Formats: sequence, C-alpha cells, structure tokens
Amino acid sequence: MKIITVASCKGGCGKTTTALNLAACYGWEGHPVLLLDLDPQGHATLGTALDCRDDPGLYEVFARRMDLEDVVIPDVVAGIDLVPATRSLGQAEALLADWPREKELALRLGPLAGAYRYAVLDCPPSLGLLTTNALLAADLVLIPVEMSLFGLDSVERLLAHMARLEARYETAIPFRVLPTMVDRRTRLARAFLRELWARYPEQVLPVLVHHTVRLREATCRGLPIIDYDAESAAAHDYRQLARLLAAEPAPRAAEALPAHEPEAVPA
Ligand SMILES: Nc1ncnc2c1ncn2[C@@H]1O[C@H](COP(=O)(O)OP(=O)(O)OP(=O)(O)O)[C@@H](O)[C@H]1O
Ligand SMILES: [Mg+2]
Repeated sequence: MKIITVASCKGGCGKTTTALNLAACYGWEGHPVLLLDLDPQGHATLGTALDCRDDPGLYEVFARRMDLEDVVIPDVVAGIDLVPATRSLGQAEALLADWPREKELALRLGPLAGAYRYAVLDCPPSLGLLTTNALLAADLVLIPVEMSLFGLDSVERLLAHMARLEARYETAIPFRVLPTMVDRRTRLARAFLRELWARYPEQVLPVLVHHTVRLREATCRGLPIIDYDAESAAAHDYRQLARLLAAEPAPRAAEALPAHEPEAVPA
C-alpha cells in the first residue's frame, strides 16, 4: 500500500479536492483505495454525500476502542473505501496530545497494508497532531499550492515542520508540490509558477491543476470529476497526476514504527 498524504497548512488550497479526485482516479483504474478524512471539517466525507457524522471514527481508533478496519465505509465511490470524519474527530487532537502520539496513524494503518493499493489522506489546514500523524505515515506527501504569496509561504512552513519530524525520527519524508487552481492566462499565476519551480526544482510536479468551475460543480453533485465530466481539463489533470504519483517512490518499510506502544489511552 502506498500512502499519499495531501497536506498544507494553507486553507482552501485544494487539499480535499485533490485527495478525493486522486483517490477516484485510482479507484477508476480498478485499484482498491482507502481515503482517510483527517479533517474535522469533514469536507472529504461531505464530498461523498454520506451522512455518518455520528458514527464511530478515527477518534475511537486512536482511543484504541476500535480497529481502523472497523470504521471503514466500503465503496462510497467506485473503488473507494472511506474512513470518514465523524463528529468525534474534533476531539482527536486533544486525545493525541494527552499521550502524546505522532505515529499512531502509521501504526493503525499497518494491518490494512495488504487490503489496498493506495491510501490517500486528506489533512486539515494546520500543523497539529492529526497532520503530523499523516505526515509520519506517508510514503509521499503531496503539497497543493495555489498561486499566491500565502500559498508559497505555507509550503515553507510545512517543510520546516517536516524537517523537524525528519530530524526527530531520523527518517525521510519525500514530498512533491502540486500547483493548483492555476489560471495560466494571468501573468501573476505564471510568475508564481516560475517562483515555485525556482524554489523547488526537484519537487514541483510536471502537472498542474487548472482553475475550473467544473470541480466545484462536481463537488456539489457528490461526484469525482472523472464521473462528472471525464473529458474536462480537470479530469485530465487528475488522471495525469495519478499516473505520475503511481511511479513515485515505493512504500517505506515499517522500519520507522516504534517497537513498543502503550496498550490503551488514558480515559
Ligand atoms: N482547481 C480548482 N479550480 C476551481 N476551484 C477549485 C479547484 N480546486 C478546488 N476548488 C474549490 O476551492 C474550494 C477549496 O477547495 P478544497 O476544499 O479542496 O481546499 P482545502 O485545501 O481542502 O480547504 P481546507 O483547508 O478548508 O480543507 C472548494 O470550493 C473547491 O471546490
Ligand atoms: Mg479540505
């Protein structure tokens, strides 16, 4: 199982749209995919038009009351199983901080490794413990960046956070940068793209997601773009992204997992 974490501390840069559509592309190709909604806002869950706010979810998993597989909702979209963001996820940061645990998610994902070809993790727009867990579980971190100064700044902050984690756990966290919501007709967008390529020449992907209202329309219908409009530019962008990432670094071994974990969380 290859774990792709979609992360940025910048709100509204296209994380959820990217996570959903990337997962959908893999599902469409016939690969079993697990989509994890780690954002208490629950937008990825909302995007699948499910009503499961009161179900058990990741909080119960982190509290060691349930296994991850017990909170998976199968086949929410063709080929995609979902770990939804439920109401209790809002308490998860506090729960993880109590312990504190930064590799709980990596540990919980382990038993599902044989069941899925891909896991796609959608993060909240923050650098809290949910995001940290997703970063440390990742084989690859995908950073969507919208073309703005705040967008560029957020990449720096995320990378600084990742560098601290890499040093703390003596591990490497590979990442790729994905320009999103790009309107190439504007001079400003082209300038930001050039800046992005200059800063991260090795990591900026040779694909970008164009700005298009079709993605918003698809979300409103609870559909991934490949189901809503398979011939649209956005569907093309996400198919290309899925192909590129499929060839990215192979999954890491479980070498980074701690040998001993406490048995239960304090109530
Ligand atoms: N390429 C795009 N073109 C036009 N609109 C887009 C594009 N990508 C995403 N959007 C829209 O922008 C808004 C924010 O996108 P999204 O929810 O994916 O961002 P996010 O980073 O997950 O936000 P948050 O930080 O709140 O979780 C949504 O309304 C979405 O439909
Ligand atoms: Mg989101």
